[in-house]
Amino acid sequence: MSRKRYVIALHTVVLLLISLFVPKPSLLAQAIPSLKESFKKDFGIGTALNTAQIEEKDPQMTAFIVGQFNWVTPENVMKSAVIHPAWGTYRFDMADKLVEFGEKYGLKINGHTLIWHSQLPAFIQGIHNPDSIRTFFTDHIKTVAGRYKGKVFSWDVVNEALNEDGTLRKTVFLQYLGEDYIKEAFRLAQAASPNTELYYNDYNNEQPAKRAGCLALLKKVQAAGVQIDGVGIQGHWHLGKVPLKDIEESIVQYAALGLKVMITELDIEVLPRNVQGADVGQRMVSNAASNPYPDGLPDSVQQQLAADYEALFKLLLKHRDKISRVTFWGVNDGQSWLNNWPIRDRTNYPLLFDRNNQPKPALYKVVGLNK
Ligand code: XIL
Repeated sequence: MSRKRYVIALHTVVLLLISLFVPKPSLLAQAIPSLKESFKKDFGIGTALNTAQIEEKDPQMTAFIVGQFNWVTPENVMKSAVIHPAWGTYRFDMADKLVEFGEKYGLKINGHTLIWHSQLPAFIQGIHNPDSIRTFFTDHIKTVAGRYKGKVFSWDVVNEALNEDGTLRKTVFLQYLGEDYIKEAFRLAQAASPNTELYYNDYNNEQPAKRAGCLALLKKVQAAGVQIDGVGIQGHWHLGKVPLKDIEESIVQYAALGLKVMITELDIEVLPRNVQGADVGQRMVSNAASNPYPDGLPDSVQQQLAADYEALFKLLLKHRDKISRVTFWGVNDGQSWLNNWPIRDRTNYPLLFDRNNQPKPALYKVVGLNK
């Protein structure tokens, strides 16, 4: 063999050997375990989608979403401020795109949300008579729930109607329509969109006082003979403080009413915060210590996050017969609302995937439970 041929042959062998031992990017991607596959016998796995994701701006992101999740909730585009921006005027374009997205990829859609005191259209502030509030309320539910009849699997009909002590929050709806507005919302949703699951959704409703108020609210809707199928515990929890005992008691007590139980907006806050829960109206003043991990999460915090998620999913699996869905509030850390709430422009790490959709230790812990 000539020297030249010998060098070429050697080169080929070396390249072949390298290709055997260095994993290709496509293989690495395939190696990421799928949440929806891991829990397919237990409960649905969902995520919140933002506008860019609904519009499929990034095909890799779309593929990732479809590989990991089988339920989607719109993070903002079905909220009244977006979908009903002016009196009698609706903008359905983005919500329609979400429905297309769901149909195209075979994902169940949870509509979020029909009646909520936050992210209301600005014009509501100028209305001060009960008749107009009732017209808005009725028209909104009929129109939005009616449009997506047979297109969404379920609706969060009423969101966050309770105070921390379990009393009803003094929203514009309570103020002008009285406490029956809750069962009225369910009744209207049932009429506008039959064969759709209807849920009540709140944060901190695993805490004893708020839970008691929530149980009373749910029973009232049931006693009125109005359809209600489930209750969502949002699940905006804090590192090292996931209230497992309260969560377990709540799952058991809600399920005892014959309702499906869901964790609907799961994330675990790792940054300093003195605001509990998830009241989007609350803000916190930033200081020098507000954003401690701009360049990456220290390993000790990463491990604590993994342990928290593992303990939580262990509990959820124990009650898999009562839980129909677990939805994360975002696909990855970069998308999380907690980068901007209750303080803007922080670097947060509350989910199972990092900013590049790569699995964090918490992801492996969680899927490891079901091996
Ligand atoms: C949040 C969204 O994630 C943000 O993008 C938006 O600016 C504010 O609302 N409880 C809910 C969700 O029910 O709709 C909220 O979503 C988070 C708290």
